[in-house]
Amino acid sequence: MSRLKNKTALITGGNSGIGFATAKEFLEQGATVIITGRSQAALDQAKQALNGQVHTILSNTSNLSDIRTLAKQVQQITPRLDVLFVNAGIGKFAPIEAVTEEHFDEQFNTNVKGAYFTIQELLPVLNDGASIILNTSISAHTGMATASVYSATKAALLTLARTLSTELLPRKIRVNAISPGPITTPIFGKMGITSEQIDSFKTSIQSQVPMGRLGDPAEIARVATFFASDESSFVLGAELIADGGMITL
Ligand SMILES: NC(=O)c1ccc[n+]([C@@H]2O[C@H](COP(=O)([O-])OP(=O)(O)OC[C@H]3O[C@@H](n4cnc5c(N)ncnc54)[C@H](OP(=O)(O)O)[C@@H]3O)[C@@H](O)[C@H]2O)c1
Repeated sequence: MSRLKNKTALITGGNSGIGFATAKEFLEQGATVIITGRSQAALDQAKQALNGQVHTILSNTSNLSDIRTLAKQVQQITPRLDVLFVNAGIGKFAPIEAVTEEHFDEQFNTNVKGAYFTIQELLPVLNDGASIILNTSISAHTGMATASVYSATKAALLTLARTLSTELLPRKIRVNAISPGPITTPIFGKMGITSEQIDSFKTSIQSQVPMGRLGDPAEIARVATFFASDESSFVLGAELIADGGMITL
């Protein structure tokens, strides 16, 4: 239980779902953890539910001025970071005819622009040899109808794992991507669809997973721990697909 001993990690969107499960796992593995989110109440609730060295920063990743102050806020807690899990994200689905500029901008601003400038802004406080982990999605590989914008945002992150790994070689910073399949998290309730639609969406997706179930956030947290730890010291620019076989079988 000490794979991340003496490491400090920042997890964006750490108050819920995969980010929260990863915060829990990182803490259990001995890390000091900072979680960010866009609601102080949600951050406080998450902090209460976590045990160990956990700190919170209120920061909206779709707001560039919030990102611009993130490094300073981090430095009020710790001088340097060893791990950055770029996890905050949203998913909205609509056929192309119904996609509005708002739908497009909201997802690109959060999932791509937010991710990109978070990395840029935190680079000065990342230790050489740090690990950056991007939370993408198997949607980056599939042609699911109504997912054109969401999938494009996740595909953008996949290329970032490779280009930034090359750019950051001199600092030995490794950038890797996790592509989860469907995972049971609150994200489904934030898509602007009814609970009946959520249930039928989940049932339909579940039937496409060879393992016959949705994943648990803790299963993605363990993948993140591998990338965060020195166990993955020779792995960079890589993608690990954790999807119960959905696109791989
Ligand atoms: N669940 C899946 O099936 C699945 C599959 C593949 C990939 N993913 C990816 O996994 C990541 C985590 O999603 P999840 O499933 O764990 O969903 P979640 O439970 O909704 O967690 C998303 C987290 O991101 C935060 N967030 C969203 N927009 C933000 C913003 N503008 N600024 C700061 N924080 C923001 C959320 O905060 P709030 O609590 O305020 O909303 C929440 O903490 C996302 O990038 C998602 O695309 C999920």
